[in-house]
Amino acid sequence: MASEGNKLWGGRFVGDIDPLMDMFNSCIATDQRMWAADVEGSRAYAKALEKAGLITRTEMEQIIKGLGKISEEWSKGSFVIAKGDEDIHTANERRLKELIGEAAGKLHTGRSRNDQVVTDMRLWLRDSYSTLATHLLDLIRTMVNRAAVEIDVIFPGYTHLQRAQPIRWSQWILSHAVALCRDFERLRENRKRTSVLPLGSGALAGNPLGVDRDFLCKELNFDAISLNSLDATSERDFVAEFLFWASLCLIHLSKMSEDLIIYSTKEFSFVTLSDAYSTGSSLMPQKKNPDSLELIRSKAGRVFGRCSGLLMTLKGLPSTYNKDLQEDKEAMFDVYDTVCAVLQVATGVISTLQINKDAMESALSPDMLATDIAYYLVRKGMPFRQAHGASGKVVHLAETKGITVNLLSLDDLKSISPLFTSDVLQVWNYTHSVEQYTAAGGTARSSVMAQIEQLRSWMEKQDA
Ligand code: ARG
Repeated sequence: MASEGNKLWGGRFVGDIDPLMDMFNSCIATDQRMWAADVEGSRAYAKALEKAGLITRTEMEQIIKGLGKISEEWSKGSFVIAKGDEDIHTANERRLKELIGEAAGKLHTGRSRNDQVVTDMRLWLRDSYSTLATHLLDLIRTMVNRAAVEIDVIFPGYTHLQRAQPIRWSQWILSHAVALCRDFERLRENRKRTSVLPLGSGALAGNPLGVDRDFLCKELNFDAISLNSLDATSERDFVAEFLFWASLCLIHLSKMSEDLIIYSTKEFSFVTLSDAYSTGSSLMPQKKNPDSLELIRSKAGRVFGRCSGLLMTLKGLPSTYNKDLQEDKEAMFDVYDTVCAVLQVATGVISTLQINKDAMESALSPDMLATDIAYYLVRKGMPFRQAHGASGKVVHLAETKGITVNLLSLDDLKSISPLFTSDVLQVWNYTHSVEQYTAAGGTARSSVMAQIEQLRSWMEKQDA
């Protein structure tokens, strides 16, 4: 029970720590999640100490065996956290001492929790990135497959949430998929910058005992070694980048969710969410609420809150380690859990969603073809600015007659421009409308198909 007995820093202290301060200072409840990374880092460090002649081979073997036992206890759930275990580093070292005795006290030679904690975090996050990449790729694949299957469904595209032009439903799906591809690529970039070894930086000044950092780098599979010990022990760019990455990814998903929430209202009825991703009302029996999408939308706020919270913590900190930095882990774990859940739920929602093709098509209205009238005139040689004006007159004439534009007679149209001939009839066709957009990235079938093909070959190249 002797809480102070476990402290890694007890030597110069005389009085007891205030129990409230002890709780306030402790982060074992949060950082025990990195137990595996902590053990892995220690294992490599023990080998480096032996290599530098700081411990004997027998001591190294004892340490590694003890760490193996600790690992086993954590994975079985039998590791007992003792009262004075301030953080995961303290807990593991305390247990190591119980298991192997005095040799445990040599493990921390030249190491500080300052370089240890950030090594653990980088290891943990680097490995977690591959889980995130897998979930993200699953979601992208689900979207691309859906876009391919439903390529011929046409529905209204909106700007300012007003009906704008007819587009393919698959063009809408892909618009969200491509944003997620950028997130995927950003994730890869972040991973690279996360995979940098800080161990061997000590508390702040470096390692004075000849520990081989190249060896540590190889042992722990890092891609690079940090360049400056002051920076290495205190910078949390990799956490901030992760939190920003997550914020942007969830902002993308919040936009998609918002669209789908609107599309799922009775007023739109374009899509029906599966019961598996909806919930009901405790009062109104008829309700089926898109809670999955609402929660995804809300998580973007939560994650961004974590991001801005960490940036505020970092702002104005003096150089090197300060205890403020202990706050970084809660944000990192919470955001990881949130994004993992969101990506999987989003995949579930998208793969089970029903579309109501008839409702989508009947929401198309001839006024959405006004741009097409202008393009018709442009193709007959009229400058666009003039064609835009003429098309506006067509819309106005239909309004004054109380009919839709497609019901105007050829004579009506000719009264606006002599360029109108009987072939204008083809303009009143929504498929014809979308098929005009053949330039790369457009909503014509061939352009959408090209996007799908490009995304498929991109996906093949990703080795999540
Ligand atoms: N638990 C600490 C953290 O998470 C570890 C580093 C403690 N370093 C120190 N000098 N008190 O940041």
